[in-house]
Amino acid sequence: MRVTPLTGRFGADVTDIDISRPLSDSELTDLRSAFGEYSVLAIRDQVLTIDTFEAFALQLGSFGDTPYITPVDGHPNVLRLLREADEAGPLFGSGWHSDWSFQAQPPSATLLYGIDIPPAGGDTAFIQQEKAYDALSDGMKQLLANLQGVHSARRSYGPKGTFGQRDDRRSMEIIGDETALETRLHPLVRTHPDTGRKSLFVNEVYTVGIDGLHDAEAKPILDFLFSHCRRIDFTCRVRWQQGTLTMWDNRCVQHYAIDDYFGHRREMMRITLAGDTPK
Ligand code: SIN
Repeated sequence: MRVTPLTGRFGADVTDIDISRPLSDSELTDLRSAFGEYSVLAIRDQVLTIDTFEAFALQLGSFGDTPYITPVDGHPNVLRLLREADEAGPLFGSGWHSDWSFQAQPPSATLLYGIDIPPAGGDTAFIQQEKAYDALSDGMKQLLANLQGVHSARRSYGPKGTFGQRDDRRSMEIIGDETALETRLHPLVRTHPDTGRKSLFVNEVYTVGIDGLHDAEAKPILDFLFSHCRRIDFTCRVRWQQGTLTMWDNRCVQHYAIDDYFGHRREMMRITLAGDTPK
């Protein structure tokens, strides 16, 4: 297995491995260790069926819960992320977020496999939230240390959210409901259960407030954190090819699906792996 960094900070291309068959113990150890080091791995040139995609995922963890989106028939843990060439409207995943951070135990990792890739565009961008945390002043770190973020799916899947209403023109069946109005508290700064590193656990799609603060007080703090995280120094982007499987660590990265390929089709399969309670 060959690992080639994508930037000086995080993200790597992985080649010379075949994940369509069961991995040996040493391959799994190498893959886990590269994931711990780089947080985003783009594993290139893979030929996967839906079954081998699931089998690969199950070597890394167990399936997470997937709300609001109708999964692939007969595969309740696999989503098809599809955008037809002439499709308009909001693009799924196009906003900085960490997957399902409104859940009590948000997914540890997401695996996305590229089936049909536009000739240009449709990249996925990432932010490394540990690097963003490390760059804060000691004073800001102290301020955030005991605060809890309020997470909610309402902006995306609530009745008035981006995907709150059924839209038959959309290729993906996304059905929001009232449960999206629920809120969940998670620490603004979480510690990675495997590496012990601290990161900022905030994202502009799902973090809607700070526990114990008025909205007028929380907003400037969150706005600062969102714009701080977006600093280009903390980002990388994956340029997809057919057969790329990208896995990212939702405990320490945010991601963003770039909406720049109108006129071309993009089709992916996605699985999320179960995570633990952020601490
Ligand atoms: C997502 O999982 O948020 C979508 C990412 C992408 O389509 O690039």
